[in-house]
Amino acid sequence: MQKGSFSLTIPFRIFYLLFLGFGFLCFSQIAGAQAECPVQLSQQRVVVRYGGSVAVNCSTSVSHKGMGWEASEGAVAMTRDSLITWRVSNLTEWEIKPYCYINHKEQCQVELPVIIYKTPDNVSISIVKHRRTMIAGRQYQLQCDVQNVAPVHNLTVKWYKGQTLLNQTTFTEDSKTPVNVNPSVLIRPDRDDDGAQYRCEAELDLGAEGPQYPPNKTSDFLSITVYFKPIINETKLPSVVPVFRGYSEEIVCEAEGNPKPTISWILGTNDIVYNKALTISESTPEYVSCVAENSVGTTTRKVKVFIQVKPIINETKLPSVVPVFRGYSKEIVCEAEGNPKPTISWILGTNDIVYNEVLTISESTPENVSCVAENSAGKTTRQVKVFIQDISISTVNHTEPMIAGKQYDLQCSIKYVAPFKIVDVGWYKQNKNNITETIKTPDILTYTVQIRPDRADNGSQFWCEAKLEAEGTQRTSTMKSANLSITVHFKPIINENKLPSVVPVFRGYSEEIVCEAEGNPKPTISWILGTNDIVYNEVLTISESTPEYVSCVAENSVGTTTRKVNMVLKEDYLPLIAGLIAVIVAFISVIFIFIYSIYYKTAKMGHYSLKDAKPSAQNGDIAQNGKHSPIPMKKFSQSDILA
Ligand SMILES: *[C@@H]1O[C@H](CO)[C@@H](O)[C@H](O)[C@H]1NC(C)=O
Ligand SMILES: *[C@@H]1O[C@H](CO)[C@@H](O)[C@H](O)[C@H]1NC(C)=O
Ligand SMILES: *[C@@H]1O[C@H](CO)[C@@H](O)[C@H](O)[C@H]1NC(C)=O
Ligand SMILES: *[C@@H]1O[C@H](CO)[C@@H](O)[C@H](O)[C@H]1NC(C)=O
Repeated sequence: MQKGSFSLTIPFRIFYLLFLGFGFLCFSQIAGAQAECPVQLSQQRVVVRYGGSVAVNCSTSVSHKGMGWEASEGAVAMTRDSLITWRVSNLTEWEIKPYCYINHKEQCQVELPVIIYKTPDNVSISIVKHRRTMIAGRQYQLQCDVQNVAPVHNLTVKWYKGQTLLNQTTFTEDSKTPVNVNPSVLIRPDRDDDGAQYRCEAELDLGAEGPQYPPNKTSDFLSITVYFKPIINETKLPSVVPVFRGYSEEIVCEAEGNPKPTISWILGTNDIVYNKALTISESTPEYVSCVAENSVGTTTRKVKVFIQVKPIINETKLPSVVPVFRGYSKEIVCEAEGNPKPTISWILGTNDIVYNEVLTISESTPENVSCVAENSAGKTTRQVKVFIQDISISTVNHTEPMIAGKQYDLQCSIKYVAPFKIVDVGWYKQNKNNITETIKTPDILTYTVQIRPDRADNGSQFWCEAKLEAEGTQRTSTMKSANLSITVHFKPIINENKLPSVVPVFRGYSEEIVCEAEGNPKPTISWILGTNDIVYNEVLTISESTPEYVSCVAENSVGTTTRKVNMVLKEDYLPLIAGLIAVIVAFISVIFIFIYSIYYKTAKMGHYSLKDAKPSAQNGDIAQNGKHSPIPMKKFSQSDILA
């Protein structure tokens, strides 16, 4: 070891001086015993190479009777000189113990410690019970043979791997003569240690008195070979390899190992491919294994071949056009196959997203919705057009009330029947009746029917129904329009039963005649007397002064109906007849009284009892007129419809 140069700060220097002072005191006390022996040695200790030379002065400042060096070699006989030198040019005495003596007041002596060193004759490194090929991870013993070294107490054996100091061994034996030592270390090489060079070095550490550079001797390099089991590069070969359906991909198995491994692929149970690269596709078994093998062992890596399939939306279950009846809702289902299993969502309009396979559509659903099926392999979208199917009934080019007997068109509009076909369209008026038609569509269909309503049709309900059948299936559905209620106006009809065309008038009497008329709107009724006179009333009082012809006029927005009534003046014979009857009654009464009086006088008195002869009430039902009979639901028969 080289001596370090000092560079001390001032406070430390003071401490150092104090320390030296204290050291001097101590030394004076220890030397105190020797102080009695008044000789000084030029060196306190000597370190000498075996066979080397040495010279140490022993001097004194006192007068003496003789001084000398006692030693097995190089002894100096007693002399009266004050400086004597112990000198050996070829020091080979291992156990030499020289001392300088003086005969002063009495004889005393000072010993000189001598260390004789010898560098080893040979230093060699070896592996204990093994050749140079090692297996990574196992433990091996390296041994360093150091021959003929002294003193072993000062020996350090250092172990190096390349330039790196691994370990050092020291010895506690206290032997001055040369010995052989063979220290050992345990190593556990890893695969990076393949080719590593080990050596050992024997170094003698002789202290300050020793040589400036500690003498050493090093072994040759021991280079080792480390074998290891194959290690497959997992970065280059993931455990799951995705492959798109219809494509192929090459996977490569690379493995490190010593000795260099052989690589093969095992497909399924029996198939073996001796190659680093393997082309995988749909037809490859789900699991393949790479096997890397060398003399140390076998390493296997299992790879899952994952066939990725972009989602495929089941178009049979999700047509591109979905009709839904107004006022109803319908569920549509988006199912998709794919690997990995796709997630399904619906995009409504621009922003709305529904995460579900099932979507309920109705009138409020945007016209365009899209099903999005997505997985790691890709994204598939299917657009669906939502058609709101509708059916409506209306009159054609007519908004006013209808006039009885005229012809009108009713129209049934059917909207968006695709992909259905119309099996038939039926028209109904209160009771069911239909027209059957089978027509293949355009999107909007209009059917017209002509009607000629009569006055009984006022307030009738009309509707149309369409029976639809999905193309190619037997699924049918029926769409029914809302009801259309019609108003039928008709010209007044004067009740002729209540107003005969000839009315007798008795002289001297007055009489009331009534003009009643039906009509829609309700007619206004007036009487025209003679040429100018108009009475606005249903009831007209007639007498002999009434003109011979009067007319009842019933009028509404549709038209005017007039009935002419002829007055026939009749003489009133009633008072004459009454007078005649009174005379006849009086005459009969007189005759009766006369006969009674004659009979009473000629016959006995007798009793007569007169029984009440009440006529029994008639029990028969009065036939009701048709007014209250229920109006039968009138069939809107085929003949009503003028096609
Ligand atoms: C010993 O003394 C001689 C004579 O004074 C001198 O030349 C020599 O250097 C000394 N040797 C040592 C080791 O002090
Ligand atoms: C030193 O001494 C040894 C043993 O006595 C002898 O073998 C050797 O040759 C000597 N060496 C010299 C340089 O005289
Ligand atoms: C309705 O009337 C307009 C003009 O008055 C005519 O152009 C149209 O064709 C009519 N519609 C029908 C269905 O008759
Ligand atoms: C529709 O008319 C056809 C024949 O014209 C008939 O067989 C069918 O029963 C009718 N349907 C209804 C609901 O009246």
